[in-house]
Amino acid sequence: MFESLTLSNLPRKQCGIVQAPTSTRPIIWRVEERGTRAVVKDFSRNRFLFRNTAGRFLVWRESRAYRLLEGVKGVPRLYRVIDGLALVLEEIRGENMGGPKEGKNIPATFYDALRDLVERIHGKGLAHCDLKKATNTLIGEDGEPYVIDWGASISEREFRFPILRLIYRRFVLDDHAAIVKLKLRFIPHAVTPKERLLYQNRSAMERLVRKIRDRLREIFQRIM
Ligand SMILES: Nc1ncnc2c1ncn2[C@@H]1O[C@H](COP(=O)(O)OP(=O)(O)OP(=O)(O)O)[C@@H](O)[C@H]1O
Ligand SMILES: [Mg+2]
Repeated sequence: MFESLTLSNLPRKQCGIVQAPTSTRPIIWRVEERGTRAVVKDFSRNRFLFRNTAGRFLVWRESRAYRLLEGVKGVPRLYRVIDGLALVLEEIRGENMGGPKEGKNIPATFYDALRDLVERIHGKGLAHCDLKKATNTLIGEDGEPYVIDWGASISEREFRFPILRLIYRRFVLDDHAAIVKLKLRFIPHAVTPKERLLYQNRSAMERLVRKIRDRLREIFQRIM
């Protein structure tokens, strides 16, 4: 699928921009081939240093996660990687959870389905680690949850040694705490006391990792 796409013919073949690029974010194109739509997360337009360090690293991490998650319902398909710099992904029709909460009428069952999905993902030996960011969860037109943006994910396998195993488990809990965060925002009345506790206990580790990531992004933004 999408074999004819190259980094250089993308601007000609695309049929829309899903997300505009910034100095530290890729451009996301929409493409269509024989009636199938895909999005292309493309770091090749970012400046040289960012593209060849963070860009390549994130594409490598994200493609690895999609390969591990192949066949999981609720995770888009990875069609291909172009030159280590762009991911061609199944387009999920719907919207991300980052928009204003007003007007969003999401039933409580959506969050149960999201929890089941996150458990299936953990069952494949992967923790997402960036679910706190609401734009990484999508509500499909079918009303089902989808999870995207796997650049920060970690695998149980690479965290299998004693202390690392604890860290992995903590991130698994943090993925669940992220679902509670979404519930607190959209349907706070449905949050159970147990969930509230889980959210309050979200880890210092998770906050530290986010702080480091945001700081790195700032540094990149300054030098780009
Ligand atoms: N497979 C997809 N199907 C539909 N929309 C998508 C898909 N992948 C990305 N998008 C849209 O593009 C947005 C950004 O994608 P993604 O999170 O992968 O990139 P990002 O650079 O990490 O952006 P951000 O920093 O805002 O999280 C998503 O919130 C979603 O709206
Ligand atoms: Mg994202």
